[in-house]
Amino acid sequence: MKILSLFCGCGGLDNGFINSGYKIIWANDFDKYAVETYKANFGNHVILGDINEIPLETLPEFDILIGGFPCQPFSMMGKEMGFEDTRGTLFFRIAEIVKYKIEQKQKPKVLVLENVRSLRTHDNGKTFKTIKNVLENELGYKVFDTVLNTADYGIPQTRNRTYIVCFANENAEFEFPNKMPLESTLQDLLENKVDKKYFLSDTILPTILSNGTGGYKAKSEIDLPVARPLCATMAKMHRACQDNYVTQEGRVRRLTPRECARLQGFSDEFIIPVSDSQAYKQFGNAVTVSVSEAVANSVKDTLKRLGEWNDD
Ligand SMILES: C[S@@+](CC[C@H](N)C(=O)[O-])C[C@H]1O[C@@H](n2cnc3c(N)ncnc32)[C@H](O)[C@@H]1O
Repeated sequence: MKILSLFCGCGGLDNGFINSGYKIIWANDFDKYAVETYKANFGNHVILGDINEIPLETLPEFDILIGGFPCQPFSMMGKEMGFEDTRGTLFFRIAEIVKYKIEQKQKPKVLVLENVRSLRTHDNGKTFKTIKNVLENELGYKVFDTVLNTADYGIPQTRNRTYIVCFANENAEFEFPNKMPLESTLQDLLENKVDKKYFLSDTILPTILSNGTGGYKAKSEIDLPVARPLCATMAKMHRACQDNYVTQEGRVRRLTPRECARLQGFSDEFIIPVSDSQAYKQFGNAVTVSVSEAVANSVKDTLKRLGEWNDD
């Protein structure tokens, strides 16, 4: 099955689909460091550039479109919430690509979209309603959606994300993947010997251990068995209560990029060719590989039942 991957980042979503037996034939991101990491691990089919500026005619023929698109508000001026209302957003660009392919008589069989959990409640639910309306009524897909948590797919990180899976075949019956047991903790994923730069200085330590800073109230906990969600801004040290800190050799430290990669389900063979700050950003943005793989397997089951799966 040939996949077109949008907003590919360092390739978390792609990695899951590859593990499940799909082929990514074309991928895109406009962040040069993300593209560097992607290339080092998955190959030269990734194109650096703004998706809004890539001509639709240059996109190859594909079966499935995947993408974790950045969430942006839609303007809701009229009562109709459709294609036009999403204009200027990255979701609109996805819809435009699909519409173009439909006009070319190459309608993608499946679309798999990922986003933050709050996409469903954003702007009192209007954003999500518009997205579903476009997918179902403008583009003619049967749409399934849910929130999946990384911790339910074998990896010790609380990370709730919205998954939207769309089938062109109206007879499609689809179930999101069953949960898997969590058999490891964050402590199991730690590296043994890490550079001293990851340890916190005595000056910063009280901030990290305090319960909230600057009027922001939250519980500061370190050594959590299940990590807090990795986020793209993790490189911007030090936000008490939001990032993950662990104790090692009696001292508190932040996670290393490799540990973040593990917390997103990347194998230790995954090459990290970029700086720490770029790596934190990329892993913070990524879809957890095990969740992606589980969704990819469920999509494969549905396609097989429909007689639409092929190994090419
Ligand atoms: C949430 S991340 C996607 C992570 C990816 N799904 C993964 O699993 O690793 C969103 C990505 O969209 C990219 N992006 C945002 N706007 C873009 C645009 N206009 N054109 C291309 N890429 C864009 C960002 O650089 C970022 O890497």
